[in-house]
Amino acid sequence: MIMSITREFLRNPVLTGAVAASSPKLAEAMTAGLGLESAGLVVELGPGTGVFTDAVVRRLPPGARLVAIEINPRLAAGLRARHQDVEIVEGSAEDLDEYVREAADVVVSGLPWTVMSAERQERILDRVTEILVPNGRFTTFAYAHAAWTPPGRRFAAALRERFAVTGRTPIVWPNLPPAFVHRAALPVSASGSRPSRRRRAGTSPVSARTR
Ligand SMILES: C[S@@+](CC[C@H](N)C(=O)[O-])C[C@H]1O[C@@H](n2cnc3c(N)ncnc32)[C@H](O)[C@@H]1O
Repeated sequence: MIMSITREFLRNPVLTGAVAASSPKLAEAMTAGLGLESAGLVVELGPGTGVFTDAVVRRLPPGARLVAIEINPRLAAGLRARHQDVEIVEGSAEDLDEYVREAADVVVSGLPWTVMSAERQERILDRVTEILVPNGRFTTFAYAHAAWTPPGRRFAAALRERFAVTGRTPIVWPNLPPAFVHRAALPVSASGSRPSRRRRAGTSPVSARTR
């Protein structure tokens, strides 16, 4: 099955939120410096055709898990066919806490934040902070031209409200359109050491809707 973000954009522009898949350069900026090389569980939101998925998988150590949540059934099916090593969930990032029952070290997002309502942005960001380990990392991108629009500024403010540390990379020009990466981290635990994983009682790590 050939997957295409451009085709999905023509079918549903608002849900897809991009005219083209992200470039390998943006995938590199999205995944560098997050500690993926020592992660145990990583969650990806809105993987689309899997540009960031490929970059995450290349960095993960043996035995680490990647759970990817994609709302578009065609893209979820295409990704499942390509990535037997990734747990693909067909569903919405808003229900993240139903799909992932263990604490994640890193959440990587390709979601189209600036076309979402404020309520949806906040609901998803709340779920992200709930599933991250205390010193967990969050990475997502924004198109440079949309950074100063009200939804872009609202999203940046919502990140600052929730994370102890926030920052952004320089613009990645070889991307259509050019984009930058938001990076955010929760506070480290009081002891300063890596906290042990949370695990919610009586549930399997990933819901039945995975492959
Ligand atoms: C801007 S595209 C990015 C795709 C890919 N990560 C990339 O960078 O090329 C956004 C993706 O998020 C998916 N998406 C949109 N809303 C979603 C939601 N609520 N939950 C999960 N996926 C969602 C879309 O179907 C699409 O695949």
